[in-house]
Amino acid sequence: MQAIEMLMRSEAASNTTAESAPSLRVSIVLPTYNERGNIEPLIAQLLLLKQHVDLEILVVDDDSADGTADLIRRLAHHEPALRLVRRLGRSGLASAIKEGLLDATGDVAVVMDSDGQHEPASVLRAIETLQGQQLDLVIGSRFHAQAEIRGLSGRREQGSSWANRCARYSLPKTYGHLTDYMSGFFALRLDEAIPLLRAVDVNGFKFLYELLAVSKGRLRVAEVPLSFQPRLHGSSKLDLAIVWDFLISILHSLSFRILPRRAISFGLVGSSGVFVQVLLCQLLTGLAGINFERALPFAVVAAATSNYLINNVLTFRFARLHGLALLRGLLKFLLVSSLPALANVGLAIAFYENVARNSLWAQLAGIIVVFVWNYAASSRFVWNAP
Ligand code: GDD
Ligand code: MN
Repeated sequence: MQAIEMLMRSEAASNTTAESAPSLRVSIVLPTYNERGNIEPLIAQLLLLKQHVDLEILVVDDDSADGTADLIRRLAHHEPALRLVRRLGRSGLASAIKEGLLDATGDVAVVMDSDGQHEPASVLRAIETLQGQQLDLVIGSRFHAQAEIRGLSGRREQGSSWANRCARYSLPKTYGHLTDYMSGFFALRLDEAIPLLRAVDVNGFKFLYELLAVSKGRLRVAEVPLSFQPRLHGSSKLDLAIVWDFLISILHSLSFRILPRRAISFGLVGSSGVFVQVLLCQLLTGLAGINFERALPFAVVAAATSNYLINNVLTFRFARLHGLALLRGLLKFLLVSSLPALANVGLAIAFYENVARNSLWAQLAGIIVVFVWNYAASSRFVWNAP
């Protein structure tokens, strides 16, 4: 028999002879991006949980520049409960959570922020609620009646409450009783959750929202109040692009998760282009007195350029172009979108003459075909994304 197997058997035997049943194995997943100043005291507090459970702490670091991963490596030399998952490049919070949960070996997993904003005291409360009430998921809520918020600016609090309303509206009705769909703190039973975790789409910040969406209302969920603390060191990683991703997630859910996210984003940016074009045309003709025929091409090119630049920082930011490549990309984008501009006119006329003599439907048909072309062709040729 292999030595390791013998060791495991003798351990199992001693476990069964012990008075208490073998304790619950709990994996705490801590996503980190530049949290060197915050994570050490947090881990020290979490390790106290070893008195109650069989603990594993998994830190998923996205190659932080401040040396977070090196610090964890060093700490792990003295602490076998600590594990490090180090990823190259920054793939985002939701993807880090998914990776940590899939690597976790516990019966129960707890996900929390590693900047100290979630207090460790909530961990035990969440696990007890999960076990005691036979639930699948327990969320730490910042908006629970007994919650306390000390670390959220008025603007963020307002933003979150707006986002929560959208989330409630777009998610299955069985989750209508929840108050924090955006929380970064939750506990779940791993065996049951693995098939769902595999299905979670990780584009964006909001892992919990996606988990609730793919579970189609089948999870038994409750909340515990959080006491949300101010961040001690460093700054929040939430930015405009993340808010944008969340908006796309809501629309994706509302389309019964059929329309591709990137196409929704491309479509929204495209409609902003319509405003740019109309507004600029108005300004040029109204204020500058330029005649319509000369103003129009200018407005069209300006709208296409604005679409291009916005898509580059939002829709295609994973393949974002910079410097000379940005300029080359613009020329390609203008080329790619000028073809369907001509086709648009041809299509609308053909539809009008052959399908229905209705100018609105004719224009819409043209716009849809142009949209599909622009989206597919620029994904492929401008940002080189399949
Ligand atoms: N690995 C990894 N990769 N970790 C990340 C990344 C990333 O790209 N981005 C952020 N994190 C980690 C941070 O290091 C931190 O531990 C945690 O995720 C939360 O990030 P913050 O930047 O502190 O988020 P916040 O405080 O602004 O946002 C809070 O509210 C959101 C809802 O409005 C957090 O509680 C979020 O979890 C929550 O979704
Ligand atoms: Mn934070």
